[in-house]
Amino acid sequence: MIIEPRMRGFICLTAHPAGCEQSVKNQIEYVKSKGAIDGAKKVLVIGASTGFGLASRISSAFGSDAATIGVFFEKPPLAGKTASPGWYNSAAFEKEAHKAGLYAKSINGDAFSNEVKRETLDLIKADLGQVDLVIYSLASPVRTNPNTGVTHRSVLKPIGNTFTNKTVDFHTGKVSEVSIEPCSGDDIENTIAVMGGEDWAMWIDALKAENLLAPGANTVAYSYIGPSVTEAVYRKGTIGRAKDHLEATAFEISDSLADINGKAYVSVNKALVTQASSAIPVIPLYISLLYKIMKAEGIHEGCIEQIQRLYQQRLFTGGEVPVDEKGRIRIDDWEMRDDVQAQVAQLWEQATTENLAEIGDLEGYRKDFYNLFGFDLAGVDYNAEADEMVQVESIS
Ligand code: NAI
Repeated sequence: MIIEPRMRGFICLTAHPAGCEQSVKNQIEYVKSKGAIDGAKKVLVIGASTGFGLASRISSAFGSDAATIGVFFEKPPLAGKTASPGWYNSAAFEKEAHKAGLYAKSINGDAFSNEVKRETLDLIKADLGQVDLVIYSLASPVRTNPNTGVTHRSVLKPIGNTFTNKTVDFHTGKVSEVSIEPCSGDDIENTIAVMGGEDWAMWIDALKAENLLAPGANTVAYSYIGPSVTEAVYRKGTIGRAKDHLEATAFEISDSLADINGKAYVSVNKALVTQASSAIPVIPLYISLLYKIMKAEGIHEGCIEQIQRLYQQRLFTGGEVPVDEKGRIRIDDWEMRDDVQAQVAQLWEQATTENLAEIGDLEGYRKDFYNLFGFDLAGVDYNAEADEMVQVESIS
C-alpha cells in the first residue's frame, strides 16, 4: 500500500516501514562512524523501540557488538493498517543486527506486568545467562501495578498554581498562551506510580533474585531537568516529582547491587522530539527555539548522538563515571550551557506566530516529528508500494 502520514493532534496514526528502517539504518551508521565503545556485551533495554531506548539498543549493538534483548509495547500491523513506528523500528533493528551476526530478540508486551518480566527473565536465562547492562527507558501515560491491580494514570500538570505561558501548535506554527490547571487529588501519587522508580526497582529485584545480573552490572534510567520556562509544568510539576522519585530510586538500587559490585545511574538527557515529549504543552516551543540555537552553535544532538556520547564519554570510559552533586550523569550539559539558555530565554520573550519560523527551528521540529513515524526521510520513495506487514524476526 502507499502509506501517507495521517496526523491527529500530537500523534500520527500511520507509520512508514521503509522510513523507519531508514531511520534505524541512519542511527546505526552514526554509531559505527564514532568507533568501538568498550561497553556492556549483554544488554537488556526496557523501552527499546523508539527514542532514547532505541538509541541505547543501537549504541550497544553497533558500538559494542552487544547481544540485546528489547522490551517494548507496540502495535503490530494488520492487513491495510500500519504498525506503530516502534514495531517497524524493532523489525529493522533486528534485521540489521542479525545481518551483522549479533544476537537480538524482542518481547512485545506490557513491561509493567509480571508476565512480561517472567518472559524476559526466562529468555535471559535460556539465551544469555546474565546481562551486564539494563537500560530503563519507558515513557508511558499509564501503569497497572501488578501487585495491587490498581491502574495509575500520570498527568502533566503544575503543582499549586495555574501555569500560564506560551506554547506552539507545531503543525500550524500558531503561538498562543496556554493555561494548565494545577494537579489535584491523587495526581502526584499516580504520576509517581507510573513514571517514578518503582517498576525499575521491581525489574532489578527480579533479575537479581534469579542471579541474572552479571558481576559489575550497571543499570541506567533517563531523566530530564530543563530550563526555567518549563519548570512549573515539568521539573516542578507532577512529572518532576516522578523524576525525583526515579532519581532517589537509583540510590536504593545501587545499595541493593553492592554485593555484586553493580550500580544504578540516572542520566539526565537533552530535550528532544519524541512521542513522549511532543505531548507536553510548552515543550515544543522550547525545543524549536533550543534547536535553532544549538544548531547555530554546532552542538545539536538527536537521541542517537546523545546516547552514543553517554556511552563513550560517560559510562564506558574505563574510569569513574562522572556525576553531578546529586549523583546524576549529565548529558544535557550542552543544552544547559549558560550561553545557550540565555539565548533561548531571549528568544522566548520575542516568539510570536509571525516570527517563530525565523527565530525558531519549527521546520526542524516538524521534520523530527515526521521522522519519528518514518516520514520525510531522505532516500525513501514514499510513492512506492510499501509492505505494511513487516514482522519483527524474533517475534513472528
Ligand atoms: P518514547 O515514547 O520514544 O519511548 C518510550 C518507550 O517505552 C517505547 O519503546 C515504548 O514502546 C515503551 N513503552 C511504553 N509503555 C510501555 C509498556 N507499558 N511496556 C513496555 N514498553 C513500553 O520516549 P522517550 O522520550 O525516549 O523517553 C524515554 C525516557 O527518557 C523517559 O523516561 C523520558 O522521561 C526520558 N527523557 C526524555 C526526554 C525527551 O525530551 N524526550 C528528555 C530526557 C529524558
